Amino acid sequence: MIDLTKAGAAEIAQSLTRAKARYGDIRGRNLALDMTRGKPSAAQLDLSDGLLTNIGPGDVIDTDGTDLRNYGGLAGIPSCRKLFGDYLGVPAEQVVIGGNSSLQMMYGALARAMTFGVVGGKGPWRDEAPVVICPVPGYDRHFAICEELGLTMVNVDMKDDGPDMDAVEELVANDPKVKAIWCVPKYSNPTGATYSDAVVDRLAKMKAAAPDFRILWDNAYAVHHLGRGLDTVADILAACEAAGCPDRPFIFGSTSKITYAGAGIAMFAGSKANVKDALDHLFFETIGPDKITQLRQVKFFGDMDGVLAHMDAHAELVAPKFKAVDDALTKHLAGKGIATWTKPRGGYFVSLDVLDGCAKEVIRLANEAGVKLTPAGSCFPYGKDPFDRNIRLAPTLPPLDEVVQAMEVVCACVELACLDKLAADAG
Ligand SMILES: Cc1ncc(COP(=O)(O)O)c(C=O)c1O
Repeated sequence: MIDLTKAGAAEIAQSLTRAKARYGDIRGRNLALDMTRGKPSAAQLDLSDGLLTNIGPGDVIDTDGTDLRNYGGLAGIPSCRKLFGDYLGVPAEQVVIGGNSSLQMMYGALARAMTFGVVGGKGPWRDEAPVVICPVPGYDRHFAICEELGLTMVNVDMKDDGPDMDAVEELVANDPKVKAIWCVPKYSNPTGATYSDAVVDRLAKMKAAAPDFRILWDNAYAVHHLGRGLDTVADILAACEAAGCPDRPFIFGSTSKITYAGAGIAMFAGSKANVKDALDHLFFETIGPDKITQLRQVKFFGDMDGVLAHMDAHAELVAPKFKAVDDALTKHLAGKGIATWTKPRGGYFVSLDVLDGCAKEVIRLANEAGVKLTPAGSCFPYGKDPFDRNIRLAPTLPPLDEVVQAMEVVCACVELACLDKLAADAG
C-alpha cells in the first residue's frame, strides 16, 4: 500500500483514474442505504419485547403502597431510582427518573440554568453571556441545545482519553463566562473514546473562575460495550465531592439504547442540592412521571446483572457491524495516508477523518451513489467542521450485509475525493 500523500503526480493521476472507474461501477448498483443515525436495529429492539407483556393488574401497587396508576412520585419510584442509581453509580436518593428522553432532561437542566441559575450561582446564566466547552467531534444534539438556548460554544479537541484537558483548564480557570462542559465519558459519541482516570481527576479538581461551573456528564453509553467487556470510568460525583465541588456534575443517562429508543426511561443525578433544585423546578412541569414505564423497566431487568446480561446480547448483534466497518476501512484505506478512524470498544459510532477539505465531498459522492451519511460538520458546534475532515459512521441500524455494501461505497468515495484533492494540489 502506498502513502498517496507522498506519491508523485503521475502515480496520483493513475490512482485517480482507477478510483473514478471504481466509483462509476458502484454508482451503477443503484443502492439505497442509510448510515446516518445511531439507532438500534430491529433485532436489538426485539431483545426488549418482554417489556410489552411483563406487568399485569397485580403489579400496579408498589412495595411502599403507591398506586402506580395515579399521579405523584415526582422523583421516580423507589425501585427504579435504586436500579438506575446502581447503573449510574450514585445513591438512589440522588437520582431523578424522568420521562423517555435524557436529551429532554439536559435541555431542561440548561433551560433552568439560563432562566433561574443553578446552585451556587449568582442568578440566571442568560445574564452572564454563558459559554459551554464542546469537545469535538461531539454529539450534534448537545450542540443544538446550546444553540437553541443561546449558550455560546467553544471547541476543544477530543483525544483518545477524553477532552484536551490543558485547553479545558485554561478556559475554565480564566473566564467566569465559561459555565459548563459537555462530556460523554464512556464510548463517546462519535469517537468511542473513554475518559481516563486522569481526565476525570482533572475535571473534578480544576479551578473554575465561575463558582457555578457544571460538568454535563451524559453517560449515554455506560454499558454499551462491543463484546470485549466494559470500560470503566472513574466516579465523577465522588471525585467532585472529594475535590470540594460536589455540585459540579450534572449526570444524565437513559435506557434509550438499552431497551426501546424513545420508549425507555431517562435519568438525572447529582449532589443532593442539585437534585433538590431540579425537583423544586420539575414540580412546576409535571405532577409526576410515567411510573408504569418505570415499573416495566425494573421488572424487565431485576438488577444490574440483568442490565449487563442484556447488553451482552446487544453486543452480539452490534459487534459484527463494527467489525465490518473496520475491516472495510483497513482493507481499502490503511496505509494510504488519506484517512484515520477510531476503533471503539463500545458505543454507537466510528469517527472517520479524511484529508482536510474532503469530508463534504466524500459525503456528497456517497449520497449520489445511494449511501446516506451524517451531514458533514454535524459533530461540531454550529455544524462547522473547521477542517472539513470528519465523518461519523453509524453502523447499528442497517443489517450486516448493508453495512458491508455501504462501507465499500464509503471507502471508494474517500479514495476518489482525496485523490481529486491531491491531484489538484499536485497540478
Ligand atoms: C451522547 C448521547 N446522549 C443522548 C442521546 C439521546 O438520548 P435519549 O434518547 O435518552 O434522549 C444520544 C442518542 O444518540 C446520544 O448519543
